[in-house]
Amino acid sequence: MAIFFIFDANMATQLIHPLNNLQNCSKKKGKENFVFPRKSRTKEPKSLLSKETTREKQRGIRKSMDRLEGPPRLILVADLDCTLVDHDDPENTDLLRFNALWEAHYRHDSLLIYCTGRSFSSYMSLRKKRPLLTPDIAVTSVGSEIVYSGESTVSDVVWTARLDYKWNRDIVVEETLKFPKLEPQPDKSQEEHKVSFFVEREDAVEIMKELPGILEERGVDVKLVYSNGYAFDVLPRGAGKQGALTYLLDKLDIEGNQPSNTLVCGDSGNDSELFNISQVYGVMVSNSHEELLQWHEENAKDNPKIFHASERCGAGIIEAIQRFNLGPSVSPRDVLDSEIFQAESLNLAHEVVQFYLFYERWRCGEVEKSDKYLQNLKSLSSPLGIFVHPSGVEKPIHEWIDDMEHLHGDGKEKKLRIWLDNVSSSHISSDTWLAKFDKHELSEGKVRSCSTKVLLSYKEEKQRLTWMHIHQSWLDESFSDDQEKWVF
Ligand code: GLC
Ligand code: MG
Repeated sequence: MAIFFIFDANMATQLIHPLNNLQNCSKKKGKENFVFPRKSRTKEPKSLLSKETTREKQRGIRKSMDRLEGPPRLILVADLDCTLVDHDDPENTDLLRFNALWEAHYRHDSLLIYCTGRSFSSYMSLRKKRPLLTPDIAVTSVGSEIVYSGESTVSDVVWTARLDYKWNRDIVVEETLKFPKLEPQPDKSQEEHKVSFFVEREDAVEIMKELPGILEERGVDVKLVYSNGYAFDVLPRGAGKQGALTYLLDKLDIEGNQPSNTLVCGDSGNDSELFNISQVYGVMVSNSHEELLQWHEENAKDNPKIFHASERCGAGIIEAIQRFNLGPSVSPRDVLDSEIFQAESLNLAHEVVQFYLFYERWRCGEVEKSDKYLQNLKSLSSPLGIFVHPSGVEKPIHEWIDDMEHLHGDGKEKKLRIWLDNVSSSHISSDTWLAKFDKHELSEGKVRSCSTKVLLSYKEEKQRLTWMHIHQSWLDESFSDDQEKWVF
């Protein structure tokens, strides 16, 4: 049986179990294309590419928080590979269920944090392949980098500077090179505060006994993380998922923004660090590695706030939200009886999520082709309402709804999927609201995205929201010649 350790230089070693940052739930990482780790200590961390000033960078967490009116109701901290992202499900079923739940019910007052072993750039490439929502904060490289979302991404320079304490990358590289069994991971996996190798477990155990002492003699204090019998990370002592999340929670606490609840979600040994944080709820998804379950058995068995879900990945996260009663736990995607889609009064986010879900189901032929649905859509929108298509063409919303008739079922073969990201709303006047979000549409393996604004009004007599105006513009390179298949 594989045993995994995290070591620190004091040799006050903490047996914490395996770290699995496998980028596939079941496959071992290939060992080709190895190069030696970068030696330069002056390498600019990859996410410091934004042009913002240092002061702005330091305000990162404020930026992530500014959109909330008070302390977060829920902070959801999710590992990515094999936790939020199910690599065994190319359809992303549970991830899309999670997305709809998050945007409809949590985005407006809660924080989403991804916490991954991947580097920032590797995390960004995963986002190109999977329908991952924009998180408020991304903790990458096993906690050695914290990046805030906003109009541009901002790396936490205070956290980065902290990791410099008793850390010297050149010395780490120099000393680790003396261990021939340590095979450097590809250059892209090396970071300023993370030096990574591949090594067999038995060799790792031996190296872990020696290396911290050698480094300590040279003034370097490290945390060694060994995972899944192949990955060996050398990090500054204060790094790791637990260190990064504790730092973020402390920051919120100091600002008086302590969350009502925090839920950490993981599947493997390095996530066990997250479960060590007091006060948090934790879910080990059903597909968790034996080593994490064993860690739980040995260290946290009596903690009622930690739970082993019966469902995989994203479904296990939703299950935990329900189990711990942390808020709404029914994804709009699970509400299949939306015969006629019903607006939930004054939850704008839910309204737009549900609208697009209906639209997806119509395009995929998952609702019968009946005029009553189109009439219902019309009843939800003003006859005077205009939709400005991202191509610039504008015409009444009702005419666009008429156009939907011939698109019924056309998305089935194309595996059309729609998800909304970053849904926000603001009160414009007594009965008028503006909803803003990015709408992503996957069709035939290609994603097109639009920045979307919807003006809605609430009519007391109708007790529901009416869509007054919709405006879209293409995001990134989403523009294409095939624009007539894009409606709403
Ligand atoms: C991810 C990283 C790799 C690291 C592993 C374990 O797979 O890409 O560099 O060693 O996680 O932390
Ligand atoms: Mg994982």
